[in-house]
Amino acid sequence: MKQDYLAVNRDIWNADAPQWVAFAEARWALADPEWGCWGNPEAKLRLLPHDMSGLDTIELGCGTGYVAYWMAKRGAQVTAIDISEQQLDTARALQATHGSQITFIEGNAEATGLPVAAFDFAISEYGASIWCQPEVWLTEAWRLLRPAGRLVFLGNHPISLICSPENGAPADMTLHRPYRDMWGADWTQVAFEPTGICFNLTHESWMNLFAKVGFTVERYQELYAPEKAEGTRAAIPADWAKKYSVEQVWHLAKPGQSS
Ligand SMILES: C[S@@+](CC[C@H](N)C(=O)[O-])C[C@H]1O[C@@H](n2cnc3c(N)ncnc32)[C@H](O)[C@@H]1O
Repeated sequence: MKQDYLAVNRDIWNADAPQWVAFAEARWALADPEWGCWGNPEAKLRLLPHDMSGLDTIELGCGTGYVAYWMAKRGAQVTAIDISEQQLDTARALQATHGSQITFIEGNAEATGLPVAAFDFAISEYGASIWCQPEVWLTEAWRLLRPAGRLVFLGNHPISLICSPENGAPADMTLHRPYRDMWGADWTQVAFEPTGICFNLTHESWMNLFAKVGFTVERYQELYAPEKAEGTRAAIPADWAKKYSVEQVWHLAKPGQSS
């Protein structure tokens, strides 16, 4: 793994930000949240508490900020951090269009500099959940949460990485990489659509890490593309993602009693 993954990923996201404006506009305009690459509906997944009034929340790796906005619409006080200035420009422009009180911060979700135990709820959708080193950002999320606080994060399912060719071509039915010792992937030099450096772990490693950091697992979800899905998104064909789990969601809790 490249040691400079933070700078690599920041530069890639700054350069790529214009490609995500239309997607961001569509997600900010949704009446009800839709999650991940395939737009699975919140009514089915239930990633957010229905009523978030009175909750202090943080989105880690917020990108264009639509998850932050969904939480604000449910009544939460929202802080949202991202390492890319350009992505935050999109988020702030959409905040101005839609009107909301979200505090957007430019910074690294692995070391936010925010106060300890300041939040009741933390979330990441393809943000810190895949672009940050798992042990580092999970330790930071645990530090930020109050006792009984919850962390929900969505990212790629490990099987989607195993079935993705080393050259970045779309996933297929072949096991292209070992599962054992999975850490993630460096997509910076691949032939097809190079991106950055992403992290993922085996299920056993995720579970061991949650226990080491101090989280308990409340719920785990494996997501598929909806039956109506077509095309290829993030190098995963729809037909693949209907048969194999393409995304996973972990729902974690920091033990303790809320005050
Ligand atoms: C696919 S976006 C996900 C965010 C949001 N759900 C969206 O789609 O707009 C990934 C974001 O993670 C951010 N990111 C990558 N590394 C980060 C880090 N170390 N700290 C904070 N944000 C980071 C990138 O800048 C990018 O905006």
